[in-house]
Amino acid sequence: MPLRRLRCVTACVLFTWATPGVAGDEVMIARGKALVEEKCARCHAIGRDDKSPHEKAPPFREVVEIYPSEDLAESLAEGIVSGHPDMPVFKLDPPDIEAFLGYLNSLSENP
Ligand code: HEC
Repeated sequence: MPLRRLRCVTACVLFTWATPGVAGDEVMIARGKALVEEKCARCHAIGRDDKSPHEKAPPFREVVEIYPSEDLAESLAEGIVSGHPDMPVFKLDPPDIEAFLGYLNSLSENP
């Protein structure tokens, strides 16, 4: 019995942590920003009104509108293969994915 309750609490905590818009996201968003600055910014526009350095790479603020974040999370976990030779294959760990999506969501949430 106590074990089951413990599991439920863990699930709830994880859920709250993973839901965008919950207080305490700032740290995650900052982490996500650092991540995309390091790995993606040389091709993708990562801000609200910048231009992609690579002309074919969609700005992230558009990516988040085209793809639901659940879909993105899935493809990031499996490794994104966009079919474009210029785009390297990325595989991110779950904490990095959370951070990345947190950052993406922050782009669309506060225009
Ligand atoms: C070397 C350049 C380059 C880097 C670095 C890069 N991308 Fe891309 N990315 C592209 C290009 C070019 C496209 C457009 C591909 C196309 O239209 O076929 C793209 C498309 C995408 C798409 C849309 C995929 C689709 O199927 O439409 C996503 C999502 C994406 N990139 C995420 C990322 C993430 C996350 C990172 C960093 C971890 C990243 N990219 C780093 C060049 C890059």
